[in-house]
Amino acid sequence: MSQEFDQVEIATGPSLISKLQECGISATDCQKLELAGYHTIESVAFTPKKHLMTVKGISDAKADVILQESSKFVSMGFTTATEVHARRADLISVTTGSRNLDTILGGGIETGAITELFGEFRTGKSQICHQLAVTCQLPISMGGAEGKCLYIDTEGTFRPVRILAVAERYGLNGQDVLDNVAYARAYNADHQQQLLIHASAMMAESKFALLIIDSAMNLYRTDFSGRGELSARQMHLAKFLRNLMRLADEYGIAVVITNQVVAQVDGANPYNPDPKKPIGGNILAHASTTRLFLKKGRATTRVAKIYDSPCLPESDATYNIGADGIGDPIDEEA
Ligand SMILES: Nc1ncnc2c1ncn2[C@@H]1O[C@H](COP(=O)(O)OP(=O)(O)OP(=O)(O)O)[C@@H](O)[C@H]1O
Ligand SMILES: [Mg+2]
Repeated sequence: MSQEFDQVEIATGPSLISKLQECGISATDCQKLELAGYHTIESVAFTPKKHLMTVKGISDAKADVILQESSKFVSMGFTTATEVHARRADLISVTTGSRNLDTILGGGIETGAITELFGEFRTGKSQICHQLAVTCQLPISMGGAEGKCLYIDTEGTFRPVRILAVAERYGLNGQDVLDNVAYARAYNADHQQQLLIHASAMMAESKFALLIIDSAMNLYRTDFSGRGELSARQMHLAKFLRNLMRLADEYGIAVVITNQVVAQVDGANPYNPDPKKPIGGNILAHASTTRLFLKKGRATTRVAKIYDSPCLPESDATYNIGADGIGDPIDEEA
C-alpha cells in the first residue's frame, strides 16, 4: 500500500512568539510566554501542556488555545525517511580544528544536537570549547556555521586570549571574533538554568550557531550534596538538559557541554554511580547525541573516543593542544 504523507511546509527559521497575535492570542499572553523563556512558536508547540500551565497567567483553557494555534506553524506529524534524509544532508558541522577529530565525528560538531565532551582535567575540554567559539563563526566552506557563540562558563576558565590566538590562525579579525562571543558566568545551578532563558531571547534576535556550557555539571556538584538531594538534583538537571535540547532543536544550534570525570581503570564505566565520582550519570549520557571521551596522550597530544553515538562507529582520534588551538599531532600535519 502506498501512503501519501501530507507535505507540510517546514518553516526555515524559528517564528517569533509575537506572530501568535495574528491567531487571536493577546499581546499580554505573548509577553507572559516570553517572560517564561518561550520566544518562538516552536518552543511553545514542543512544550507539554502541563509545563505551559506553570507560566503565570496561562490557564488550562488558554494553554489549549495556545498549543492549538502554535501547532499550525510547526510540523509535528509523520514525514518520509526521504525528507529526513534530505534534511540531515543539509546539517552543518563545525570543525574542531583537528582533521582526525573531525573525521571520527563525521565532519565535526553537529548542529541541532548536543555533544558532550567528558574526560579528566587537562584533557582539553575547555580548549576545544574556545576553539569552537571561533570556528563556528567561519564560513560554511571553511568548516564553520556562520553564527555567533554563546558561552556559559561555570568554572571561570574562559580566556579571551585563547579566542584571539585561534582567530589569528584562521586569519580572522580578533575584535570581531570576540564581539561574536556572548559570555556569561553562571554562579549556581538555578542561575545556569536562568541563563538559558536569556540565551533563547538572544537566539531569537540574531544568528547563533553554538552554545557552550563549560562545565555542565560543576554547579550541580556543589549546589546539591549527599544522597538526600539526589532526586532534586537529577530533576533539576533533567530540566536543564531538556531546555538545552529545545534550543538545539528550535534554533538548529550546536550545543556543547563538558563534564569532568576522574581517572578510571581502562574499560570501567565512566558513569559509575559512585557518590565520590562526578555526577550526571545516565541523565546526562542519554541527553547527549554524541559523547566524546577525552584522555591524555603523549606530551601535548590527547586521544578522543566516540561513545555510543546513534550513527558513528566507536573509534579513536589523536589531536594536539597547541598555542593556536586544537589541531592534529604535529608530525601528522601536512
Ligand atoms: N596557550 C596555550 N598554549 C598551548 N597549550 C595550552 C595553552 N593554554 C592551555 N594549554 C594546554 O591545555 C591543557 C588544558 O586544557 P583544558 O583547560 O582545556 O583542560 P580541561 O579538560 O578543560 O580541564 P579541566 O577539567 O580542569 O577543566 C593543558 O595541557 C595546557 O597545557
Ligand atoms: Mg576546563
